[in-house]
Amino acid sequence: MPHILTSTKDRVTRIELDRADKKNAITADMYQAMADALRAAEADPQVRVVLIHGKPDCFTAGNDLKDFLERPPSGDGSPVFQFLQGISTAAKPLVAAVAGPAVGIGTTMLLHCDFVYASPNTRFQMPFVTLGLVPEAASSLLLPLSAGYHRAAELLLLGKPFTAEKALAAGIVTEIVPDGELLDHALEVAASIAALPPSSLRMTKALLKTRYGAAVKEAMGAEGEKFRAQLGSAEAKEAMQAFFEKRKPDFSRF
Ligand code: COA
Repeated sequence: MPHILTSTKDRVTRIELDRADKKNAITADMYQAMADALRAAEADPQVRVVLIHGKPDCFTAGNDLKDFLERPPSGDGSPVFQFLQGISTAAKPLVAAVAGPAVGIGTTMLLHCDFVYASPNTRFQMPFVTLGLVPEAASSLLLPLSAGYHRAAELLLLGKPFTAEKALAAGIVTEIVPDGELLDHALEVAASIAALPPSSLRMTKALLKTRYGAAVKEAMGAEGEKFRAQLGSAEAKEAMQAFFEKRKPDFSRF
């Protein structure tokens, strides 16, 4: 699999981002591999829980910006949308372990996970506006629900990096785990979930999520339409070119 490692052991499926040289930036092929792994885990009766993680010093720098410029996602069948659909509708519990950069979808995907463990060094960020884009993954709906409007507005409109403490206060993180203990802790939690009665677990997750299912789908659709339109905009091109040219973007002409 391309830069995504998957394994299943003791009823736990692990999905690991493995592209350290590019800060685990996620390409279309990687989204496809993660969507396929989620689908396989859902279909396998032996699997009780899925754990998503990156490297000890890096979760992900978010969507690969070169891919955004050269191969923008085209619609509902695109790999990123398949991945988003997979995490937003997963019947089995999802655990995430995050450290270092957790940018863009590296933060928004956490809103769909049931347990999120973060190292104190995690640097969360949702730089959609600063990239000339709009939020995705139903974060425009889910973040105000977990964080309250004003905190969500600050994080989504300004797009600045924020700490694990702030993510905890915003309801994005379950617990901050000391450096060096993150993956072991997440694996321990996954193992304890795998030992629970599976039907009861899945029914309880479904009950927790049922109220928002349709709204999440609707928000993703509305965001996706605007996101794709903005990807072709001069604002987004300026922002992304500036990143690769290692300079500050200039939005003064828009
Ligand atoms: N897409 C494509 N390449 C990326 C990337 C991304 N999202 N994030 C990092 N990279 C690449 C860099 O271009 C660099 O490649 P190079 O070695 O060939 O020059 C390499 O990964 C290392 O990144 P660098 O920026 O040097 O690492 P850093 O530790 O200084 O900073 C980040 C890490 C995550 C803060 C920074 O890379 C960043 O801001 N990335 C963009 C995040 C982003 O906007 N994501 C999209 C969200 S929608």
